[in-house]
Amino acid sequence: MSQQFDVVVIGGGPGGYVAAIRAAQLGFNTACVDAYKNPEGQPSLGGTCLNVGCIPSKALLQSSENFHAVQHDFAKHGITVDNAKIDIDTMIKRKEGIISKNANGIGFLFKKNKVANIHGLGSLKGRQGEKWVIEVTDNGAVVDTLEATHVIVATGSSPRPLPGVTVDNVKVLDNEGALAMTEVPKRLGVIGAGVIGLEMGSVWKRLGAEVTLLEAAPTFLGAADQQIAKEAFKTLTKDTGLDIQMGVKIGNITVGDEISVAYEKDGANQTLVVDKLIVSIGRVPNTAGLGAEAVGLQLDERGFVVVDDHCHANLPNVWAIGDVVRGPMLAHKASEEGVAVAERIAGQKPHVDFNTVPWVIYTSPEIAWVGKTEEQLKAEGIEYKKGTSSFVANGRALGLGHAQGTVKVLADAKTDRILGLHMIGPMVSELVSEGVVAMEFKASSEDIGRIIHAHPSLSEVVHEAALAADKRALHG
Ligand code: FAD
Ligand code: NAI
Repeated sequence: MSQQFDVVVIGGGPGGYVAAIRAAQLGFNTACVDAYKNPEGQPSLGGTCLNVGCIPSKALLQSSENFHAVQHDFAKHGITVDNAKIDIDTMIKRKEGIISKNANGIGFLFKKNKVANIHGLGSLKGRQGEKWVIEVTDNGAVVDTLEATHVIVATGSSPRPLPGVTVDNVKVLDNEGALAMTEVPKRLGVIGAGVIGLEMGSVWKRLGAEVTLLEAAPTFLGAADQQIAKEAFKTLTKDTGLDIQMGVKIGNITVGDEISVAYEKDGANQTLVVDKLIVSIGRVPNTAGLGAEAVGLQLDERGFVVVDDHCHANLPNVWAIGDVVRGPMLAHKASEEGVAVAERIAGQKPHVDFNTVPWVIYTSPEIAWVGKTEEQLKAEGIEYKKGTSSFVANGRALGLGHAQGTVKVLADAKTDRILGLHMIGPMVSELVSEGVVAMEFKASSEDIGRIIHAHPSLSEVVHEAALAADKRALHG
């Protein structure tokens, strides 16, 4: 006998678990099916983000930043620490503790909201009257059959493979291996200088590895505002010490005791020899085993579930959210889509504004933005004005010892409405929220200029950049 539900969510990442909680809050009898098992073979909710993505990477970034600060920054405060050491085992255990705390927390929230927590791989089998039939398997054996009026597909994404090299997570690593190294490699290679490459490269560089990133694109961080991207490139290469090679074409990769990566740059053949290699060249949607073909769920040519603006797929009452559909592969985007779908099922009219999805890259300094870049505004023929301000003289940044970076406000030339906010600097992951709020409320740069910002605070640089857009910077 099948278990009956109003809503079954397939996938327990930040898209799926949030959708399940919201659906349950709205009164639906809801189940969430998730297949992820941690290295101990235990189910662990939270998907890529919690288990092998956002959260563990930020834990390691913090550990490595602390280690770097002890060695390089503390002396300026008059604090001397001789022979600072890093115990990688402790660092990794701390990271794992954070994961299990949060994963248990999701289990607790499921209980509190009466979401049925079902472990296994969910597969669409077809229709039984008005209901969808979902089969759940674990290690190949059927463990449950569910029936649901609505299905939300939230199966996420996996690392994009690089032809010619096999990820074994011992020598050649994807995000999972990059977050679980047991010692600092002497030489670390990274293919792809995107978000994962830069964050993971920073972690292991700060812990002592020589890190070389090989990037195919000629332009560094092509999606970011190029003024900020150029400043980031300079800082990450000069200060962090990452060796970033742009515009390369990867050739043969041979894996033995050492890993040898042949590549071509500017017409010259080169070889990079490293002890470990991270492959971080983007991610692909997870639809294997979902039963998409069997039930006629439409996928696009790259394997994403095709959805409309409301995340509805081509089948009745089938929805899809997060990394498995179009749009940025970001946890907060997945969660917002999850909330919106649950509310739409309940007959509400939610809206996810893709123009105000913030981006953050957690390097040091951090890089963050929301809205359009100068390049996009130019390409779209939109007349704009800009204001920039630097962290160099900001009192709080000086106190923190991180007085480096820039904030740029882009506003419509005629209406002054904010079109984009771009920044590199200390804790800009937090500052970007001001831009999101401002853009969501259709604020002008003058609005930010007239809002009181606490002194001394990093947010004063945003204030000053907004004033600069109006040519009335006070400290510029
Ligand atoms: P996922 O989190 O991938 O969850 C999908 C879940 O579904 C998984 O548990 C999977 O096992 C399960 N599943 C798949 N198929 C089935 C099936 N058939 N049946 C049952 N279960 C199934 N984003 C940010 O916003 N900020 C960050 O700082 C950030 N850092 C990142 C760092 C790294 C190293 C990586 C790899 C990613 C990072 N991301 C970050 C991206 C973020 O992790 C994803 O955008 C987010 O996890 C997508 O959420 P999701 O719910 O769509 O999918
Ligand atoms: P990415 O798209 O950010 O970067 C991949 C890079 O690899 C690109 O610069 C691309 O040009 C390059 N590349 C592709 N093929 C290549 C090849 N054959 N040789 C050399 N370079 C090649 O993808 P990444 O870093 O794998 O991360 C995946 C996604 O996960 C990100 O796009 C982001 O959505 C998410 N993420 C978000 C984070 C955050 O919000 N802080 C942190 C980490 C990941």
